[in-house]
Amino acid sequence: CIDIAPLYKDTGHFTYDPGFGSTASTKSAITYIDGDQGVLMYRGYPIEQLAEKSSFLEVSYLLLNGELPNKSQFATFENDITHHTMIHESLKRFFEGFHHDAHPMAMLAASVASLSAFYHDDLDVDNAEDRKLAAIRLIAKMPTIAAACYRYSVDWPFRYPRNNLEYVDRFLHMMFEVPSEPLTLSPVAAKALDLLFILHADHEQNASTSTVRLVGSTGANPYASIAAGITALWGPAHGGANEAVLKMLEEIGTPDKVETAVKRAKDKNDNFRLMGFGHRVYKNFDPRAKIIREMCHKVLAELGVNDPLLDVAMKLEEAALKDDYFVERKLYPNVDFYSGIIYKALGIPTEMFTVMFAIARTAGWIAHWIEQHETPGSRIGRPRQLYVGSDKRDYTPMDKR
Ligand code: ACO
Repeated sequence: CIDIAPLYKDTGHFTYDPGFGSTASTKSAITYIDGDQGVLMYRGYPIEQLAEKSSFLEVSYLLLNGELPNKSQFATFENDITHHTMIHESLKRFFEGFHHDAHPMAMLAASVASLSAFYHDDLDVDNAEDRKLAAIRLIAKMPTIAAACYRYSVDWPFRYPRNNLEYVDRFLHMMFEVPSEPLTLSPVAAKALDLLFILHADHEQNASTSTVRLVGSTGANPYASIAAGITALWGPAHGGANEAVLKMLEEIGTPDKVETAVKRAKDKNDNFRLMGFGHRVYKNFDPRAKIIREMCHKVLAELGVNDPLLDVAMKLEEAALKDDYFVERKLYPNVDFYSGIIYKALGIPTEMFTVMFAIARTAGWIAHWIEQHETPGSRIGRPRQLYVGSDKRDYTPMDKR
């Protein structure tokens, strides 16, 4: 063990904060969270009000511009988004290079990164108009790319966006429409999806948004920055949790096995965790979970879904909410516990869950990327480390080791 203090004598004040639990990496005017009180606001508007009264596209406008749009501003924004839903024909061919069982998140990350190769014209990150165009393109094209990822994985032909439909309906049609059968969607499906998109649109400096900002701080283009955010989102401790929830429910299998699962989650010698429970910031009920919990029960009732895994989920929620281990550590079900259940009820395959999250979070990521570029004096992100390796030593030739 070496004394590291002399190595840092020239760095001035130095903070060691693993996991960035108490380090603000930036100032931001986009999203406010009070984890102890369970408060979430976008640009000052409580999430509960936006969830009840707004739509995902309106929320996207709000995140990007700081104010709610009036009628004509919204019409222009919606029109711009609709105008940019298509993807380049060459990008369509890009999919054919992927292996058939490729994970949709892998295809999504690669396709979004590749947008930088298709849109050379808006790569001047210092130009406000270019930044705005990139934001529109990303929000517009994400559902088209996401649906293409899914369709490729199930060997269905690519479907062009139907621009006479609204954002969420358009996405659902691109996902599920097959040539021989007209698609009938329950209104509750579009409503639930729009709500999930609103709730997932931003969440201040989480791992993926911080990644977008860190990559963006180097001057990288928006598509590369958002692609990095997508890969950060993929992990099971972050956006991948909704997929992990379903896998966990399948592993538990039946409601009578819930008790054993809860016991295992409490055992420190077992690395099994209840996926969809706990949150780094919320030490109270996740306000998004409260809203989506209600929608979850509505979706299950209205669609008349009868799936044994959903019974497991409901039993697990009940068991954890009254278990001292979870109560004392304030481990409440988070938004991803319910989002996975809703996606499953809507017939969205498990591998697509994190992709759904990525569609919504694109609005927040690009709002942060823009804010970063609009902030004078932004610096490249460059965390330091505490070196704990070997002290200085001399090289030994291989035959002497
Ligand atoms: N199941 C069982 N125990 C848990 C769980 C869980 N899901 N989450 C936390 N704990 C326990 C820890 O073992 C620890 O116990 P200890 O104090 O006895 O050592 C205590 O609760 C605190 O946990 P930490 O890991 O320190 O909490 P942290 O804030 O670092 O982690 C996280 C938060 C990653 C979300 C964690 O709760 C977790 O892994 N949850 C499951 C994954 C998940 O749902 N992620 C989605 C997050 S939401 C989102 O990204 C949109």
